Amino acid sequence: MTVTQEIKSRLDLVDVVQDAGVQLRKSGRNWAGFCPFHPNTKTPAFYIFPESQTWRCFGACAEGGDVFSFVMKKNGWDFKETLTELAKRAGVTLEDHRPRDKAHEAAEVRQAALLDAASHYFHQLLLHAPQAEAARRYVADRLLNDDTVATFRLGFALDSWDALRTHFSAQGYSEDELLAAGLLTENEERHRRYDRFRNRLIIPIRDSDGRVVGFGARTLDPDGIPKYLNSPQTALFDKGHLIFGLDTAKRHIREARQVVLVEGYMDVMQAWQHGYRNVVAQMGTSLTEAQLRLLQKLTKRFVLALDPDAAGAKATLRSLQLARETLDRDLDVTFDARGLVQLEGRLRADIRIVTLPEGQDPDKLIRTDPAAWPRLLAEARPVVDYIIRVVAAELPPGDAKAKSAAAAQVLPLIHDIAEPVERDHYLGVLSQALDVDIKALRAAETRLKKAGGKGQGRGAREQGQPPAASPRPATGDQPPPYDEPPPYWDDAPPGDFDAPRGAIGQPGSKIAGDLRRPPRLEENFLRQCLEYPGAIHHINRILSRQGEPEVSAADFERAEDRALLQVVLERAQPSGPEVATIEELCNSLDAVLAERVRSLMALPPSPGLKLDRLPDSLAQSVLDWRLEKIRKRISELKQLRASEHEPESAEELTRLYSDLLATSQPAMRRIHQAKDALSAQGRRRAESGAGRRAR
Ligand code: UTP
Ligand code: MN
Repeated sequence: MTVTQEIKSRLDLVDVVQDAGVQLRKSGRNWAGFCPFHPNTKTPAFYIFPESQTWRCFGACAEGGDVFSFVMKKNGWDFKETLTELAKRAGVTLEDHRPRDKAHEAAEVRQAALLDAASHYFHQLLLHAPQAEAARRYVADRLLNDDTVATFRLGFALDSWDALRTHFSAQGYSEDELLAAGLLTENEERHRRYDRFRNRLIIPIRDSDGRVVGFGARTLDPDGIPKYLNSPQTALFDKGHLIFGLDTAKRHIREARQVVLVEGYMDVMQAWQHGYRNVVAQMGTSLTEAQLRLLQKLTKRFVLALDPDAAGAKATLRSLQLARETLDRDLDVTFDARGLVQLEGRLRADIRIVTLPEGQDPDKLIRTDPAAWPRLLAEARPVVDYIIRVVAAELPPGDAKAKSAAAAQVLPLIHDIAEPVERDHYLGVLSQALDVDIKALRAAETRLKKAGGKGQGRGAREQGQPPAASPRPATGDQPPPYDEPPPYWDDAPPGDFDAPRGAIGQPGSKIAGDLRRPPRLEENFLRQCLEYPGAIHHINRILSRQGEPEVSAADFERAEDRALLQVVLERAQPSGPEVATIEELCNSLDAVLAERVRSLMALPPSPGLKLDRLPDSLAQSVLDWRLEKIRKRISELKQLRASEHEPESAEELTRLYSDLLATSQPAMRRIHQAKDALSAQGRRRAESGAGRRAR
């Protein structure tokens, strides 16, 4: 959970608003009052939706948001002040998130240099040291050739407690530095420090840019424990954020338009040696979201080639659901710093799985029968198919309870499939696998849909709040029904993209719903403006020329996004801070904002965005999202009205609704005109451009 999420889960917006002096009364499931942000005395226009912990004014100010944006606006505070205050109120300790200082950065650069030097040191030892004879034999036994040894810069650590320490001390590295880089280990009791890697084959682990960040070290002894000793977690080495072999495989993954994920170092190297170069390893752990994000930039087609052990298959179930949730979005372009890269036609994430035959792993298989590898990969099956098989294979025959449990495990996955035909197909497959009537499965699947809703944070929020008497269609632990929006403002909480892993893969967890959602227009807008600092001025100029207000905080619902708009504006100023890379920008920001920036950068772009006309497209998208917001407000109010049974409140809502319609319609007309004018301009420009080219 991010800090903002944590804070939000502990606070109740209703309390906060009441404490700020706004009188509220219950209105159905929600709370209503006069809007504190503008004169509002006749009809209460300010609503709070406890289930989503959001507020919205249906009157003149037309704003809305969460507890952060309310407090910011009410007190005129900036994001930082608001964060500090609400953290205090919620009893959440904020760590001191000072931007990383220069000294820290310098230390990291030095650590990277040290690790690189260490990889060369080990490599030279493997190639030339007399003591490395056994290691060289081991490499030869595993049929790794010189070229592979050089490509992966394999090395050898001497069988010594202090050879490395002595070597690098002489080069001016302190013991603390060697320890921080994970090259020394410290014995806590005796305060002794010694070489971490001894008498092992060294496999440098590089990040996707090819920078050595750590090592995997294999014992040469068949019974050695552990088989692989890896670098400890360091400033640069974080296993969950790394993929072995990615730097060398990157180009080939793009070319092959597919990545093959295997479990181990040796698998990657053996595959590489045989020319199968789009192969990377997750290093024995289950796939993390961060790893997927790295790969997602390169391709949307994944083949997971899993070792045959059942534990592996089981562990994979979880990471698979994660994979599906992270990747399965409708997208047909991907955005890359260098421009728009058209991937395939209508591209959706395609994840396939294949299990290796008993007693095999890719390393062995490729060594003994290289041609079997592509054949095996061709047998990979789509995730749901695979999971149905795994689940069915474990089913004791004729056990009704087990069947029901198996169905409960698989149905949420099927339920997640967007395509009705595909969904029905898998219901059929499941029905056959479990030998139950497809009608029963359909009924169960429909029940999932009905029970849809948001689960996260519910317990915390409902404490101290009596359960509402009216039916609540959209709470619970099931995913929300996608075809019918819940009758309240269904905004995504901050940071859900970085959801903790534990929460993912539970059938129907709230995250599952949000990860599938394509980025909203505002998010895409911020992302592009962060990447292209100059764009915001062009966009505002385009909007002004159409008589539309410039982009302002009021356009954003999330408090972080309002703060980020400020950042964007500052970066775009000629006198502003020097334009830095996104990473540098993140380092200069408060941690909460930095996290938001990172999650924005990880979002896939809105389809159809043309880089050469970025400001035009973004100005259009601003207009689109303004329209969308108006429509959303209207439909929310309509639904509020429809669900209100109390005559007096109903009457109020009717009045509010007709007022809202009266003010919205001219606004929408104006925006539509601006949109039309912009597209007409775009067309003219395109035509004259084409004309010029034709001449
Ligand atoms: P495996 O046990 O399948 O090893 O672990 P492997 O890759 O087949 O290795 P060889 O062929 O016996 O040499 C798969 C991966 O899990 C991680 C490593 O990344 C390994 O490649 N692992 C395994 C460790 O990090 N530590 C261990 O002790 C074992
Ligand atoms: Mn192996």
